[in-house]
Amino acid sequence: MLKRIFDFISALIGLIVLLPFLVVVSILIKLTSKGSVFYKQERTGQNAKLFTILKFRSMIENHGDKNTVTVIGDQRITNFGSFLRKYKIDELPGLWNVLTGDMSLVGPRPDLPHYYNLLKGEDRKILDLKPGITGPASLKYANEEQLLKSQQDPAKYHYEVIFKDKVRINLAYYKNNNLLIDLKIIFATIFRFSYGSQEIRRIWLSPPNFSKSELDFVKRDFNLSWVSSFGPHINSFENCLSKISKDFHVAALNSGTASLHLALILSGVKKGDRVLCSSFTFSASANPIAYVGANPVFIDSDIDSWNMCPILLEIAIEDCILEHEKPKAIMLVHLYGMPAKIDEIMKIANKYDIPVIEDAAEALGSTYKNKPLGTFGSFGVYSFNGNKIVTTSGGGALICKDKDFIEKAKFLATQARDDKPHYEHSEIGYNYRMSNVCAAIGLGQLEVLEERILQKRAIKSFYKEQLSSIKEISFLDENEDSYSNFWLTTILLSKNSTIDREQLRLHLEKENIESRPLWKPMHLQPIFKECKSYVNGVSEDLFNRGLCLPSGTNMSITDLKRVVDKIKELYEA
Ligand SMILES: Cc1ncc(COP(=O)(O)O)c(C=O)c1O
Repeated sequence: MLKRIFDFISALIGLIVLLPFLVVVSILIKLTSKGSVFYKQERTGQNAKLFTILKFRSMIENHGDKNTVTVIGDQRITNFGSFLRKYKIDELPGLWNVLTGDMSLVGPRPDLPHYYNLLKGEDRKILDLKPGITGPASLKYANEEQLLKSQQDPAKYHYEVIFKDKVRINLAYYKNNNLLIDLKIIFATIFRFSYGSQEIRRIWLSPPNFSKSELDFVKRDFNLSWVSSFGPHINSFENCLSKISKDFHVAALNSGTASLHLALILSGVKKGDRVLCSSFTFSASANPIAYVGANPVFIDSDIDSWNMCPILLEIAIEDCILEHEKPKAIMLVHLYGMPAKIDEIMKIANKYDIPVIEDAAEALGSTYKNKPLGTFGSFGVYSFNGNKIVTTSGGGALICKDKDFIEKAKFLATQARDDKPHYEHSEIGYNYRMSNVCAAIGLGQLEVLEERILQKRAIKSFYKEQLSSIKEISFLDENEDSYSNFWLTTILLSKNSTIDREQLRLHLEKENIESRPLWKPMHLQPIFKECKSYVNGVSEDLFNRGLCLPSGTNMSITDLKRVVDKIKELYEA
């Protein structure tokens, strides 16, 4: 009731104060294109009741199918209309809908009816709310037309990603809304559209992005005291991952690094053995080789995939064999979500009968010839660290086709406790098992994995399109066999770029935008400087010229634009 009174009074005052402005806008609409001043459309209101929303007309009259999504540059939008849309002036007549009681000032933005017919279960609760002129989800997607423009299939993306995400945000608002929150949203809307003052907020490289389910799963753990490394969520999490990895067996562990360590132990790698390892990677791929006392031999990258170069790999194997030190394993990394040249590398590994451990820590959801990464070698490893595409706060998983290896991994990960009523140990064990609470978070995250991949891919497309005018910047692209989750969007500055990577990084940092140089190759790391390495200069060059751009799936289109504008600013200065 209070909200209704607040809405009514605010809308009335708003309409009276804005009347001269609204009249001028109406006249300009009439003068700049043929047709009516207002645009009316059927939208879904409270309790799924249809109502007619009133807007200023921003498109040409009789523009055809009213149910198609609108993108920036859409031929149907008039010049003046695109100005109205940019500053959300086209929404102001909605104050009339607020007066008549069909809408509130704040609530879920009313979408087209056919989307709401697809809502199921708890999600339908958002229909209990009155739709709003602004709302928590419309703040995030203020410029969604721009994001849709970078999609091959905007309608699918609008539903699969944007609409579903809006539903989630609106459901959270449904569970926790009051007048104070409404006031904050109103101020944020005015502030954002008029002053753009959120520009100072820090944009992180790849922060975690939670959906609505994680807390529900975790609450269940607390209610039933399943907080240790024992409980049903670990099993469910492993089952979910098993489905994603085409029925491989899974051991959920407490980090990707721990998973790599166990993969090496299970591959029989021992003290003094040689392990061939991608040089262009994070140190966590190489450190476990040192944990088992083996010697890493680093292999540089190929220029197409940025991952292990098959030619150098074979040269290294031949050399090792000549020295009577046949490598015990190959640590193959799929960096930034991009598949390595798997066919070529597996052919070499099979030829010399050397097991491959796939470090797919950054590549969950990526595929090669439609097969998930991690399922080509003897073992695959994923990471669920806080910055990964989905997270368990901290965690990892080891996957393998062979059930016995996974049983053994679980045994080793729980202190290698023999099957006795008391504590008996015949082997050295580790405390590497994932906790049930982390698995609960992971279950919520896996529900949105597909969505996150689409978002990451859209982020990469957006950057690529928006920065296409800067010839000094290029992107790492897929080939016909590879499908990347684009965990991080990476750019490479051309050799003749007037700006170097560090200048660009510091420029972004000054604007409170986090970016990061590409991984420094292992053969250049002080700790590994004595190790054998096969180098062609590619990874060193990538390190010198490459930068990871902010790629968080909770970035709004305004955030993405902010990054793009800052990069352009530097190049166009
Ligand atoms: C390529 C690579 N390998 C291994 C790891 C280790 O994973 P975790 O941090 O879960 O131990 C990471 C990420 O952190 C990584 O990026």
